[in-house]
Amino acid sequence: MAALLTASLRQQARRFGASAPATKDITVTFIEPDGNEVEVTGEEGTNLMELAHENDVDLEGACEGACACSTCHVILDDKIFDELPEPTDEENDMLDLAFGLTDTSRLGCQVLLTPDMEGARIRLPSATRNFYVDGSKPAHH
Ligand code: FES
Repeated sequence: MAALLTASLRQQARRFGASAPATKDITVTFIEPDGNEVEVTGEEGTNLMELAHENDVDLEGACEGACACSTCHVILDDKIFDELPEPTDEENDMLDLAFGLTDTSRLGCQVLLTPDMEGARIRLPSATRNFYVDGSKPAHH
C-alpha cells in the first residue's frame, strides 16, 4: 500500500511537471529467531513486511498486509515503538492473537519505514500463530 502511495505521488509529480518528492533510504536490522541478523535498506514509506520479503527475511504475512492475521508480528526497540503512531483498533485486535506478544509488538505490515528508524533493530518472534495447521507457509508474491 505504501509503495503504491509513493508510486502514485511520483506519478502525480510527473503529471504536474514537478520533481518527485525525495524519499530517503533507511537501513534497519532484522533479528531472526535463531539470532541471525540481516541488515537491509529500504525506501521511506515501505512497510516492514514488504521490506522483509524483498530481502528474503523469514517474516510471514499470510494476509499480505490486510491486517487480518498476526503472522507479520515484529518486536521493536522501545524508542522506535514510542515514536510510531498508535496502532489502529484493527491492528490491536490482530496483535492480541499474536504468539509471544510483548509491550513493543507491532504488525510489520502496518509499520512504515521513516527516517527515525535508521539503525533500528527489529526482532522476529520465535513463532507465529498461523492459520495453517500443517506447518506450511504461504509463498511470497
Ligand atoms: Fe497479516 Fe500483517 S500480513 S496482518
